[in-house]
Amino acid sequence: MQSFAELAARRRTVRRYRPDPVPREDIEAILEAARWAPSGMNMQPWEFVVVTDEQTRRELGELARYYVIHSQHVGRAPVVIAVCGRKRRSPFARDDCIFAGANILLAAADRGLGTCWIGGFKEEKVKELLRVPRSMTIVGLVTLGYEDSETKPPPRRELSEMVHWEAYGSAERPRRLSDLRRWGPQTVLRKFLREQKPEKRDGAS
Ligand SMILES: Cc1cc2nc3c(=O)[nH]c(=O)nc-3n(C[C@H](O)[C@H](O)[C@H](O)COP(=O)(O)O)c2cc1C
Repeated sequence: MQSFAELAARRRTVRRYRPDPVPREDIEAILEAARWAPSGMNMQPWEFVVVTDEQTRRELGELARYYVIHSQHVGRAPVVIAVCGRKRRSPFARDDCIFAGANILLAAADRGLGTCWIGGFKEEKVKELLRVPRSMTIVGLVTLGYEDSETKPPPRRELSEMVHWEAYGSAERPRRLSDLRRWGPQTVLRKFLREQKPEKRDGAS
């Protein structure tokens, strides 16, 4: 059994999925983990819309756009979960939904399932498609399914560069500009674009 530390380090954003359906028990077990997420004043202002219908998923894939980023894999994952928040119930609805979302990603990884948190999508259009009331917010879409080809972890900043003991300012400065390039947006974008090509099975993304 993997420890929590191993699970946290091994969870990966997956953008290439096998078409195999995910058993309903697995989806429910993953959402059960979301149910136990913390929430401000324990308001639990989240709702989860689980989409397996092919046509709806394809339409979601079209709506998963943010400026030049088009997360086409949303249309190819066997399951998409919309994490919705009741803004009127809690001022912390968005934060709460993100905690619930994190539990979804980790619980899925624990069951050998891949996920991708999608923050870039046409929210109002997705609300219409999924009949989510306008008074609510859709904080994120989560794609869920079995990984098609192993995803290499993207680089992370070093712990020593981000931890400031006692007060801000004591962390190490990144030594070279190339350190920033190692994990920065350019690297992430290149990886994203590579993973949008489903036909090319590579482990070296
Ligand atoms: C708030 C947020 C928004 C994200 N939005 C998208 C998105 O719209 N499309 C996408 O393909 N990945 C998206 N991601 C996934 C990130 O690109 C990914 O988490 C990051 O590159 C690190 O990779 P890892 O999750 O494998 O560690 C998002 C992640 C977060 C936390």
